[in-house]
Amino acid sequence: MSSNCAVILAAGQGKRMRSRHAKVMCQVLFKPMIDWVCDSVIEAGVDDICIVTGHRSDEVIRHIGEKYSIVQQTERLGTGHAVMQADEYLTKRNEGNVLVLCGDAPLMDSATISGAYEQHISSGSMATIISARLKNPFGYGRIVRSDDGSVTAIVEQADADERTRQINEVNSGAYWFKTEALLQMLGSLSNDNNQGEYYLTQVISLLCQNGFKVDAFTADDDEVVLGANDRIQLAYLNERARVKVIRRLMSEGVDIPFPDSVYISPDAKIGSDTQILPNTIIKGKVSIGSDCVIGPNCCLENTLVSDGTALDNVSSVDAAVDEGAVIGPFARLDGNTHIMKSAAVGSFSEIQNSTIGIGSVVPRLSFVGSSDVGDNVSFGSASVTAGSGKDGSRCRIGDNAVIGSNCSLVNPVKIGRNARTAVGATVSEDVPDSVSAKPRARQMVKKIGSKNGRSAE
Ligand code: UD1
Ligand code: CA
Repeated sequence: MSSNCAVILAAGQGKRMRSRHAKVMCQVLFKPMIDWVCDSVIEAGVDDICIVTGHRSDEVIRHIGEKYSIVQQTERLGTGHAVMQADEYLTKRNEGNVLVLCGDAPLMDSATISGAYEQHISSGSMATIISARLKNPFGYGRIVRSDDGSVTAIVEQADADERTRQINEVNSGAYWFKTEALLQMLGSLSNDNNQGEYYLTQVISLLCQNGFKVDAFTADDDEVVLGANDRIQLAYLNERARVKVIRRLMSEGVDIPFPDSVYISPDAKIGSDTQILPNTIIKGKVSIGSDCVIGPNCCLENTLVSDGTALDNVSSVDAAVDEGAVIGPFARLDGNTHIMKSAAVGSFSEIQNSTIGIGSVVPRLSFVGSSDVGDNVSFGSASVTAGSGKDGSRCRIGDNAVIGSNCSLVNPVKIGRNARTAVGATVSEDVPDSVSAKPRARQMVKKIGSKNGRSAE
């Protein structure tokens, strides 16, 4: 589809969302709706994309970056008017076909886009509408066909008479056009309708009136048309998308025994025989290997999890967990953290901006921050690294070191290989290799009421 391009309409305010943000930035499964649409278009093989922005265009532009062309629609005068703003973009590409879609319909998928394109080309149509048959077509534009079945017009809900309202085939708001034909008709749009808008849908009847062939591709999956105009519809889209993602993962061999409370982003990758347990949320581009147990109650974001790991009640952002590591219950990983092969992080522990080496163990109630921990290091319970490490300084702990329970390692400090630190020690000076450090005063005892104490034996 290399000579083809796409225009995504994303200027609307979406008043009923009652949001300060652009409507297309509202999220479905933790992913802005505009990203769903762009990703489906790219997956269908079209990577030349123009986005029409308007309300909160600053936010949309910041989010999109330099990836796609952007045009502005300063006044929202309708979907036809929105496409007119891309006139220059389309004129430069008038040889091919253009896919026009709505930025607020995130479930439009690449299979439907590709299927419609094949029909568009093989039928030699100037426009192919992606339609669906809905039990409740209320609110959508209806596809009007003549007696021989050919499409003649799209009539909006607001303009439809009682008979037209009975039609259950609706316009998804996505279409393939021969670019030249679309450009030719845009100039003739009027706003003579019940909403006083320039409707893109009028292009369809104009093409028919000028003797051009127009077709409709009816999607197998009627959910591709679903859009979100308010928070209730947004929640419904989330639920439909959630079920779709979970079903796909199950078909790929992921074990989700109690799926009702599991939320997984469409961009997550999960290997077969991994079990995802209840109340688990997986956001964005998380990748999880095979044979893992994730959950219950895990929340993972930007995290890479290798094969055979177990994460129980873990919150993780910006982290990597290597093969066979065991994390939790009730642990947090964040800020560029790497847990290496077969390491363990125990209950109520947090690892931040640190590497925990192969086979090392950080058990319960510990905090390791801005540290490089070697292999086979053993932490006692309730050990912490102190100091922010904001200046880039780090604690370095050599292989096979043993950190006693309740130790504070004051950043930056270096603990040598095979070294030990005593229970309860505050370690602020480096400990050489194979040395045991006991930097704490002997316990003093004194009889209650007496002046003099003595060291305990
Ligand atoms: C539109 C279609 C309708 C279809 C429905 C599918 C028209 C006239 N109607 O109706 O046939 O069934 O989509 O969801 O096209 N937008 C702009 N600028 C504007 C107006 C809208 O960029 O001036 C964008 C919106 O941000 C949105 C998309 O176009 O992403 C659709 O606009 P919306 O007002 O929601 O159209 P509908 O009334 O839903
Ligand atoms: Ca809409």
